Amino acid sequence: MTCSIRNDKNKKYSDYHAEMKKKNLYIQTFGCQMNVYDSERIACLLEERNFQLIDEPSGADLIIINTCSVREKPEQKVYSAIGRFQRLKRENPKLILGVGGCVAQQQGEGLLDRFPYLDFVLGTKELPRLTKILDDLEDSGARSSATALEGRVDPYASLPFRAPRSKVSSFVTIMQGCDNYCTYCIVPFVRGREVSRASHDILSEIRLLASSGVKEVTLLGQNVNSYGQGHPGELSFPGLLEAIQEIPGIARIRFTTSHPKDLSSDLVRAFGRLSKLCEHIHLPLQSGSDTILERMNRGYSREEYTRKVEALRQRCPDIAITADLIVGFPGETERDFAATLDMIHRIQFDDFFSFKYSDRPHTRARLLGDKVSEETSRRRLEELQFLQKKITRERNKRWEDREVEVLVEGPSKSNSEESTGRTRTHHVVNFPGRNHAKGSLVKIRITKVYAHSLRGEALDKGGLCDD
Ligand code: 5AD
Ligand code: SF4
Repeated sequence: MTCSIRNDKNKKYSDYHAEMKKKNLYIQTFGCQMNVYDSERIACLLEERNFQLIDEPSGADLIIINTCSVREKPEQKVYSAIGRFQRLKRENPKLILGVGGCVAQQQGEGLLDRFPYLDFVLGTKELPRLTKILDDLEDSGARSSATALEGRVDPYASLPFRAPRSKVSSFVTIMQGCDNYCTYCIVPFVRGREVSRASHDILSEIRLLASSGVKEVTLLGQNVNSYGQGHPGELSFPGLLEAIQEIPGIARIRFTTSHPKDLSSDLVRAFGRLSKLCEHIHLPLQSGSDTILERMNRGYSREEYTRKVEALRQRCPDIAITADLIVGFPGETERDFAATLDMIHRIQFDDFFSFKYSDRPHTRARLLGDKVSEETSRRRLEELQFLQKKITRERNKRWEDREVEVLVEGPSKSNSEESTGRTRTHHVVNFPGRNHAKGSLVKIRITKVYAHSLRGEALDKGGLCDD
């Protein structure tokens, strides 16, 4: 890990740099897309410090675990992972082990007490301090925890950015944190108050991505609808979408997550008006019962949610609508749960993610009585997923015999003779032929539909490569 530079007058500094042995960085990422984005930014920052990213933890000089604490289960997974990596450290005492992300923010120094081989803890807004933390470790071996969260500062503004190699699709975080304080949610406490990144930074990042071959960007934020609010002179979210629409090379724009209470008519109109904006919206419902929605502090009723969905479908009949749902929120009765099932029938989601309610530190729901038993929550989850599976299959049938545009991601994982990609509505499509160039847009006729994917055949030879 140490390097020595010989004093050879004929050599340029860059030659020495190239000769320096690269250090290996392994990042294990848990949780949401925002963590995936953060891990990419960490890799970029450390690349400037002579680290290269590797795919396996063995042989790493530095391991960073990027963590999620949205529910108890992912949090527990993090502790098992730290335990596993601690063992690697016994074999290689020079290995540096750090924890970042939401569990780091939530537990802070407590993690250093609990895990004696852990070297540092890096909160969600502390990414720029990573290099200093590593310097201190190298100089004095000092273990440290950096978890400041106050202030509406953009932690990405001071970080380097390098476009990835050979990626078709990329995430771009446009805002961090959340001011909504849904009563079950830990996010405002671990990601802080809402802060939007400057549109100038976002747009230059996307231009760089486009120049490296990225065709699709997914804009990330806890509540993208409030992008720009509290930043005088900044673009609104629909304004930002319009600016991205103008970037050559970008073929598709997606975003997540949109809060139903803030879904504006401007944003609804953007669908169909902006040709690159894909016909898919993730609109978390959480519960179909007005009583529970109120107790969750969601700020909308089932009627209001339904009206937003109708407006979206009126504007864009083919739009795919997905959601998040929670079962077993404190006090959820059979009647409340029946109201959720009723909303699932009524809305006809294309699909959704569903979770059992989980008590989280700092949240108001944690203090509510009338907790729903594990057994009841499990049964409700199964029932809801069973119902949606049928609806998803039924809804997928609308694609049968239709032509769709697919962005090719590469060879299919399950069959090397086939290619795979996604429609604008985010449906996975597998189709024969492995020579479709990654990143090309092909016209596919859908021949068969399943619950989780579609099958089709290519109608044009556009984007075929020779090998
Ligand atoms: N328990 C269960 N699910 C939760 N989510 C957030 N907090 C909790 C919790 N305490 C779910 C919500 C959110 C998604 C990212 O995770 O559905 O939309
Ligand atoms: Fe959590 Fe609600 Fe904010 Fe989403 S909108 S991150 S659920 S507090």
